[in-house]
Amino acid sequence: MEIKTVGVVGCGLMGSGIVETLARNNFDVIVREVNDDLLHKGLARLDDSMQRAVARNKLSAQAKADALARIRGTTALQDLGACDYVIEAAVENLGRKKEIFAQLDAATRPETILASNSSSLSIAALAAMTRKPDKVLGMHFFNPVPVMALLEIVRSFLTSVETLETSRALGERLGKKIIVAKDYPGFIVNALYIPYQLDAIRFYQNGMASREDIDAGMQLGMNHPMGPLTLADFVGLDTILFVADEMYAETKDPKYAAPPLLRRMVVAGHLGRKSGKGFYEYAK
Ligand SMILES: NC(=O)c1ccc[n+]([C@@H]2O[C@H](COP(=O)([O-])OP(=O)(O)OC[C@H]3O[C@@H](n4cnc5c(N)ncnc54)[C@H](O)[C@@H]3O)[C@@H](O)[C@H]2O)c1
Repeated sequence: MEIKTVGVVGCGLMGSGIVETLARNNFDVIVREVNDDLLHKGLARLDDSMQRAVARNKLSAQAKADALARIRGTTALQDLGACDYVIEAAVENLGRKKEIFAQLDAATRPETILASNSSSLSIAALAAMTRKPDKVLGMHFFNPVPVMALLEIVRSFLTSVETLETSRALGERLGKKIIVAKDYPGFIVNALYIPYQLDAIRFYQNGMASREDIDAGMQLGMNHPMGPLTLADFVGLDTILFVADEMYAETKDPKYAAPPLLRRMVVAGHLGRKSGKGFYEYAK
């Protein structure tokens, strides 16, 4: 099946990156937000992102204009009925995502594949909200989407081989390296990353070392691009807590239990870069 037009639900941090990546790789894109204000903010974010790519000579001004011409924004979910493939990138909340999948099922053609960019939630639970569970899977992109090389495809018990292969071909057209994960909490990347991240926060919470030494230890000792506390600020402490809580709720495995320090920082609004303060402080 040839994919020409892709729908994206949500134009937040991830949705805008997914829309940009699709449009830069010659797909027509229809992106749906809940209201005009959020739609314009999301479209402005992807315009800025492409402008930075132009400034760094990674994209020509003409290619940027061509990509923008392929993107259509809407607040009407029914407009996604014209799409061959839909990627949902709304908030990480199972109830909200289930609702969206039921709506997408009603709005799209029977053959349209429905993918979720969820970081941790059950793909089978989303598939169960539709009449085509074989056409539902996870397409887990990484932030920032236009830059990060990886795409983690998540196959539930119900996902067909055809859906998997069509999605793999789509990911390859976006220039991504594909890995295929089972529908297990955290898939591959977060199942390994979250315990490491929580251990680093616990280590700091327990006064075992300074934040700078924990970060330098892992950055220079393991050749990671950044240390774990800097990385936590980059990802967002609320996002890490939400994903860890979901994984703990499903597995009851203590390696996914969030340390109290993380929970208290989130309650205090210390969310990392996006709030100006996390483990470190950032100028607004
Ligand atoms: N932030 C990350 O690093 C990251 C990485 C990989 C995956 N994810 C996943 O991607 C998804 C989106 O995360 P984000 O960081 O972009 O969040 P975000 O809050 O920046 O964006 C979510 C957007 O979805 C919109 N939205 C909510 N309900 C909607 C609906 N019914 N229709 C259309 N739009 C709707 C919101 O208005 C918001 O703009 C989540 O499932 C998250 O777990 C995030």
